[in-house]
Amino acid sequence: MFHQYTYTFPDHYFPDHYREGFCVFMEISSTVGYDSRAVLIHGQRTLLLSGAIHYARSTPAMWPELMRQSKEAGLNTIETYVFWNLHERERGVFDFSERLDLFRFCEVAEQYGLYVILRIGPYVCAEINYGGLPTWLRDVPDMAIRTYNQPFMREKERWVRFLVDYMRPLLAPNGGPIILAQLENEYENIANRYGADGQHYLRWVSELGQSLNLGIPLVMCEGATAGAIETMNGYYAHSMLEQHTFQHPDQPALWTENWTGWYDTYGYPHHIRTPQDVAYAVARFVAAGGTGVNYYMWHGGTNFGREAMYLQTTSYDFNAPLDEFGQPTTKLRHLAHLHQILTDYAELLLTNERAQPQSLGEMQVAYTYASEHYTLTFLCNDAPLPTNCTWNEEQVSLPAHSVLLLVNGRLAFNTSDIATTHVVQRDAQPLEQLISEVVWSAEPLPSAWPTALRSIVTADKPREQLALTHDNTDYCWYSITFSTLADEEGILSLIGFADVAHIFIDGQFYATTPTPLIENRGSFDGSAFTQSFSLSLAAGEHELTILSCAMGLIKGDWMINANMVQERKGLWGHARWNSTVLEGPWSMQPGLVGEQTAFFAAGGALVDWQLASVEAFEKPLRWWRLTFERPQTAGPYAVDLGSMQKGMAWLNGRCIGRYWLAAATGEHESWQKNIIFAQGTDDPTQRYYHLPYEWLQDKNTLVLFEELGGDPTSVSICTVPETEIN
Ligand code: GAL
Repeated sequence: MFHQYTYTFPDHYFPDHYREGFCVFMEISSTVGYDSRAVLIHGQRTLLLSGAIHYARSTPAMWPELMRQSKEAGLNTIETYVFWNLHERERGVFDFSERLDLFRFCEVAEQYGLYVILRIGPYVCAEINYGGLPTWLRDVPDMAIRTYNQPFMREKERWVRFLVDYMRPLLAPNGGPIILAQLENEYENIANRYGADGQHYLRWVSELGQSLNLGIPLVMCEGATAGAIETMNGYYAHSMLEQHTFQHPDQPALWTENWTGWYDTYGYPHHIRTPQDVAYAVARFVAAGGTGVNYYMWHGGTNFGREAMYLQTTSYDFNAPLDEFGQPTTKLRHLAHLHQILTDYAELLLTNERAQPQSLGEMQVAYTYASEHYTLTFLCNDAPLPTNCTWNEEQVSLPAHSVLLLVNGRLAFNTSDIATTHVVQRDAQPLEQLISEVVWSAEPLPSAWPTALRSIVTADKPREQLALTHDNTDYCWYSITFSTLADEEGILSLIGFADVAHIFIDGQFYATTPTPLIENRGSFDGSAFTQSFSLSLAAGEHELTILSCAMGLIKGDWMINANMVQERKGLWGHARWNSTVLEGPWSMQPGLVGEQTAFFAAGGALVDWQLASVEAFEKPLRWWRLTFERPQTAGPYAVDLGSMQKGMAWLNGRCIGRYWLAAATGEHESWQKNIIFAQGTDDPTQRYYHLPYEWLQDKNTLVLFEELGGDPTSVSICTVPETEIN
């Protein structure tokens, strides 16, 4: 086991990517370093204005435009995590093709004159399936994730060394754009859980980092060890600065994650952070001495396929400055203006030490950076209300939560004031009559599966789903027979179950899991892992069939209050009818017939598709195939799935993601109050799903696996154009 390695590299990988100097032992180079004020590139202090763009969340054809717009908006750096789970889905089988072509992504950044920060992790959090770790780690004996555990460290080290060797030509000392690297991510979140073992592991990570001979500094956000620069994450970093400087007097103040918005989860409203607040946070940080800001996310993009973490929507828009489709927003334009000023006066900022705060009031403060010719002043109001104060013997009005930037005493930028020319508004608009044919085919219950495809497992107790599916599919069927003595109204309970259950009794659909689900569910024996359904059943024997749907794996220990290796799906506990535990045998069947025979791709040719009819709309377990011509109107394109309920979608054989039209009835997290705002309460969390331009053809097929029932004839292809502002 585990010896055969297969590599899928992009065509252009060999041999051009190997630049001179590769494979030669490198001295720690002087190309990139740091002092207490800033990162030094070729000995020069550099103000890093960086944006997170995750290569796998867009397509390669989008990259040049994303980079061009980033550069134009004043960034000088792009940051990305590396997704081990996507590159090595199967152990020993490496994939760096298409949107996983990390090397190419960094080269495109370089072509646009952008540096790259590579956050290798390999644990990355990032709302990606399993926090970026391959799910096969769960099958390695004696595994414990992100602590001092030999199997974990062995696997991590193998991957990290491989990845670093692959990317080495692009490290700055070899003439490439990569200036900083990160191993691990926010260890502080779990440090208490692992105590001494955790610290031991972190030291091992540092040693691993040193032994890689990267020749560039290592960073580690929220919980670094010796040998790495400690960096900050959050909505505001200025408030952490004093403590940071106290603890790390020799390090610059770098902010790895300035959250530009927040991610969305199904069943909860869309999250918004205002452009003014993001600009305030950046200006306030730089004023106080920060010299590196990375916007997380700068472009959030899309969680294609089954790549989203538990409950995370397919869209990873994040309310970022570049929207999901890569288009500029008001936030981008407002920040671009700020970047312009910060860049113009970067030398002034960096040749000075951190300015000392000058108090203007209880929550108002000024910082001044001066040279012979210029002064740059930041007048900061941290209060939630506007206020007047005196500056240079003059009265100034400071808007609520704002920074005014003054150049030689004149107002150059007000973080709270958005120029009307910077305001962008977009709305999805349906393109008429593009869809020419809608047909369907049924997905059978396991009892009706073709024998050749069946792999039913029978056991006394139900088996945990991931042990059967290895996360190669979201779906797993559970069946059992049980009896009721009289006609009964009762409660069917699943105790020890995750995530969504569709309940069928005697082949008929009866119920589904109520929404919203909770993101951080606590321990497995807690109430979040019990689901109950009210059913009315006639006396006699019944067959209970459950379609268990996994909604992505967790991104970190705290979501289940246990080591990530414990992650579970499906039914691992028991089922009860009222107070009676249902006695086995249970039978379990992983997957769907349509998945196994690829109804959405080549297998679709063998399916006896039926013409759409109203009766078929409401039925659960339907495969729908929609055909449409290439849109002639300018993109980007999305599909409006507002008339469907829950399932998975494929465009020309490629999975564009899970869809779920669950209404956003969930309550917003209280710790983000006054920073993040809810939008679209009670509407579906996500209605429009990105159709990447690159994946379209002259004639297209969109295949939907609809779990619950919907009207696919109302599905439409949309564009998302800029609209007039009223
Ligand atoms: C941070 C984490 C990121 C991402 C972010 C929220 O704590 O480091 O990977 O998960 O939160 O979007």
